Amino acid sequence: MTTGDPKQIVHAADHPPFLWWRGEVIPWDSATVHLTMVGWSAISAVFEGIRAYWNPDDEELYVFRLEDHLKRFAQSQRFMRMKQTYSQPQLAEAITGLFRANGHRTDAYCQPLAYMARTVPGYLAAEGVPSEVFITNRSAPSNLGSGKASRCCVSSWTRISDNSLPPRAKAITNYQNSRYVSTEAQLNGFDSGIILNDQGKVAEGAYACIFIMRDGVASTPTRTTGILESITRECLIELLGDMGIRVQERDVDRTELYVADEAFLCGTLIELEAIASVDHFTLGDGGPGPVTKALQARFEQVVRGRDPKRTHWLTPVHAKAGAPA
Ligand SMILES: Cc1ncc(COP(=O)(O)O)c(C=O)c1O
Repeated sequence: MTTGDPKQIVHAADHPPFLWWRGEVIPWDSATVHLTMVGWSAISAVFEGIRAYWNPDDEELYVFRLEDHLKRFAQSQRFMRMKQTYSQPQLAEAITGLFRANGHRTDAYCQPLAYMARTVPGYLAAEGVPSEVFITNRSAPSNLGSGKASRCCVSSWTRISDNSLPPRAKAITNYQNSRYVSTEAQLNGFDSGIILNDQGKVAEGAYACIFIMRDGVASTPTRTTGILESITRECLIELLGDMGIRVQERDVDRTELYVADEAFLCGTLIELEAIASVDHFTLGDGGPGPVTKALQARFEQVVRGRDPKRTHWLTPVHAKAGAPA
């Protein structure tokens, strides 16, 4: 709970004081549902993961690509045939308002989640049920520039596909696939796994998209390879272009991972993380390669509002929500 100046708000160890539910900012502990909602209720839930970056010079928290995340959120609800209860501008206002209510003045992460509002389980074939939405946020320090590099393996699991569980929808159920991949990777002593699609081509990481560098050219699997249509991936394609690096969106073979000069994973939560090795084949010197490092630095400039060309990707939290920086 909180009193007084938001700057003085002390966050509880594991959650901030407020979340947003059914159109209101409410105390975290008062957001409860009946036990019978647990279980099947998640089968049709969809969500977004959105980052916000603090800029101490501007005294501003910038939400990164908010409109694009809300567009994908709406698309995911559409796949579920949910009736959308809130418009994208309403959700944008809710997200910036919640950051303000929680007094966030550090890098942060936000998750809106939509589920079927009907409270009785058993809506496996429901259509046109209104969505209910709750939004949480939390501090999430950026790892850009940490120098971290992940030891990856190629997973024995196959990526979900468009005719089974469409990867284009950010549905909670899809993450069982990611969970199998990550758990297997970690049990086998790796940091994370890379998944091949049903054609045997590289799809993505467990929770992130992937780029490889070979002979000065960046390659990343196409949007129809079974990836989540990643917003970070789109940004990096543009930023690599700015750096004069050619980008190919194409099929990537498993063995290309073994001979890449460098490679990295990208996604909202993970940001841009170097791959140290794949199946024990070390890439470069095992640390972030030169392109990965340069791209991380450029990305950090952008997300913190220090690239005047890209301020349209940012929504300031403390200025009027929705206004360009
Ligand atoms: C399965 C999966 N693929 C890719 C991504 C990267 O997507 P984005 O860059 O939009 O966060 C994520 C992260 O959200 C993910 O969960």
